[in-house]
Amino acid sequence: MKLRLLLLCVLLALLFVSCEMKKKKDKDKDKGHGHGHGHGRGRGHGHGHDHHHHRGKHGRGRFVDIITDIFFQNAGDDDDDDEEHSSDWLYELQEPEGPCSPNPCHNNGVCEEGKKGKKFKCDCPKPFKGKKCEKGPKHCKKGRCGRGECVVTSDPPFFECKCKEPFKPPNCVQYSVCDPNPCQNGGKCVRDGNDFDCACADGFSGHFCQVGPDDCYTGDGESYRGNVSETDDGHECLYWNSHFLLDSGTYPFGSNEDDDGLGPHNFCRNPDGSKMPWCFYRKGRKLWWDYCDVRHCDDPTDEPSTAEPTHQPDPTHHAPTSPGPTEEPAPGPTQPAPPVSTTHAHEPTHGPTATHGPTATHEPTHGPTATHEPTAAHEPTAAHEPTAAHEPTAAPGSTAAPGSTPAPHTPSPTNATTNETAQFKTCGRPEPKKPITRIFGGLKVPPGALPWQVSVQVRPQNSNAPFRHLCGGILIESCWVLTAGHCIHKNRDMQVVLGSNDLSSEESSQQTLPVEEAILHENYNEKPYAVYNDIGLLRLQGHNGVCAEESQFVKTACLPEAPLPDGTECTISGWGATENATGSQHLLEAKVLLINQDKCSKPEVYGAVLDNGMMCAGHLRGGVDSCQGDSGGPLTCEENNAFVIYGVVSWGDQCGKKNKPGVYTRVTNYLDWIKSKISAPAK
Ligand code: ARG
Repeated sequence: MKLRLLLLCVLLALLFVSCEMKKKKDKDKDKGHGHGHGHGRGRGHGHGHDHHHHRGKHGRGRFVDIITDIFFQNAGDDDDDDEEHSSDWLYELQEPEGPCSPNPCHNNGVCEEGKKGKKFKCDCPKPFKGKKCEKGPKHCKKGRCGRGECVVTSDPPFFECKCKEPFKPPNCVQYSVCDPNPCQNGGKCVRDGNDFDCACADGFSGHFCQVGPDDCYTGDGESYRGNVSETDDGHECLYWNSHFLLDSGTYPFGSNEDDDGLGPHNFCRNPDGSKMPWCFYRKGRKLWWDYCDVRHCDDPTDEPSTAEPTHQPDPTHHAPTSPGPTEEPAPGPTQPAPPVSTTHAHEPTHGPTATHGPTATHEPTHGPTATHEPTAAHEPTAAHEPTAAHEPTAAPGSTAAPGSTPAPHTPSPTNATTNETAQFKTCGRPEPKKPITRIFGGLKVPPGALPWQVSVQVRPQNSNAPFRHLCGGILIESCWVLTAGHCIHKNRDMQVVLGSNDLSSEESSQQTLPVEEAILHENYNEKPYAVYNDIGLLRLQGHNGVCAEESQFVKTACLPEAPLPDGTECTISGWGATENATGSQHLLEAKVLLINQDKCSKPEVYGAVLDNGMMCAGHLRGGVDSCQGDSGGPLTCEENNAFVIYGVVSWGDQCGKKNKPGVYTRVTNYLDWIKSKISAPAK
């Protein structure tokens, strides 16, 4: 009898294990688009939406995960060339002014127009090589570290392999379980086939029992120098000197270790003014980041704190913020295929379920909803002369033209009687704490790096329901937020959250303000294939004319003066859908290039639907794009060290698709409209 019971248990256990393995594989299949050119921005991916989804809190990568990891699997294939080819389509959309404009050379290479039939030649700074200076020194060649991560060192041979346990140095190809014991601080290694667990001595924790009982952080964790090296979802942190990080365009390591705690290790740190220690990790061939499973020293419990919100929202002026992450996908004219968020396989696993789909107020697939014909060229005549009419680079009331010395602040009529003279004197100049973690293709936006980025949130009218992120927006004055027309919902309560990076939790930097008046462009017109005059303004509620208060995390972006040349590199940002999730909890940014209007109006791109109130922008590498939930957010371009708002995220045919770049409302076309609204007396 006992034997039968034992056999049954073994059978059940086997079944369970194989189910687990299958689940894991299926999940990887869903998520593992790797570095492809699929949907959505190549920026971070909805961390938090899949909290508790994968391996569980302290789940270490199991043997089978390591050997099926696509990053290691394709070791040896060099796909750099593929990336090069895939970038050509967008390069061609730019209508380069010459072979060197925009500059095709990477890594600050200097472009010279070529002789003898050659289009151009890149003069590459050392140590870069290749036709476009795209090739750097590769000590960490693919496959060099078997089942391990290659980290860069400053001494020969300039790399080292950090093997995934149970794979062993030097090349992480051989493996032996529990020998030598990988568990630290007296932890016992418990073998389970090719896997193992560390049974830690009292007070110790972490995959390898590397975290001691006093391992905790104070404040925001800037001074944290402990040993936690896992994210709150159990992902193993990358070494700060990981080759993979460098390859992804970021080089955090190299700064003074004493200052920021970064170094040749994989411990969680907070070098950039985030709210708590965090780290980068790798999933497939994608770089991600998340907060760590590290305890705050004030936390009396043994449970390490997580990135979950600890405070309840308080609905007062400048109150702690809102809701969870982007639960409610913004409506979008993304046509003709359904928007990414509606087809997405992964539903957020926490937070309230979205009650409105993308079919909310402005459902593009239901045909035109606006009665006006699109007449983008026609601008309503300004009823009032804007106060800063001759300062077109700053919103009326703000003053600094990029590059010019900030002039004294001129309040606009809406706040003429205010005491805000010291506020928002300049525009477009962020003061991020430590911008060392900027990543191309976008992942981690340091707090304060995009201080004009706003989350536009809605809830059913006159209800007590929590507000949900709907769209992005751009702060252009203390009381004014620019957004997309299709983000304006007349029959809903609206609020904006400013100065926030992580929408799922209250941040001390954030300001939450109700919207007093939402102004939609008179000629707003939504067609099934495009949205015309997709622009709107939100007047915020304030006291004595002061609405948003300027801080390191809340600043205005400048309004533009004149159009920019095709090929200019600009920044888009938002909490919208990414390749792997309906929305991101963390603010993400990416670089895009402005695309020539005629090229974007070619039949294979958007044909005749574009008007001059729209402009296209995309990323050379393809795949990088704005997406659902980003609408209304900024496309800013840097001019004389100031960020100037040239575009408002509007629509696109799906996200990140070849020949279907993002379409942005062309702000230079609406300057008079913006100024007339802002300077008109409040209704
Ligand atoms: N309409 C979307 C929104 O409401 C933005 C879509 C942008 N699409 C794109 N491919 N860039 O959030």
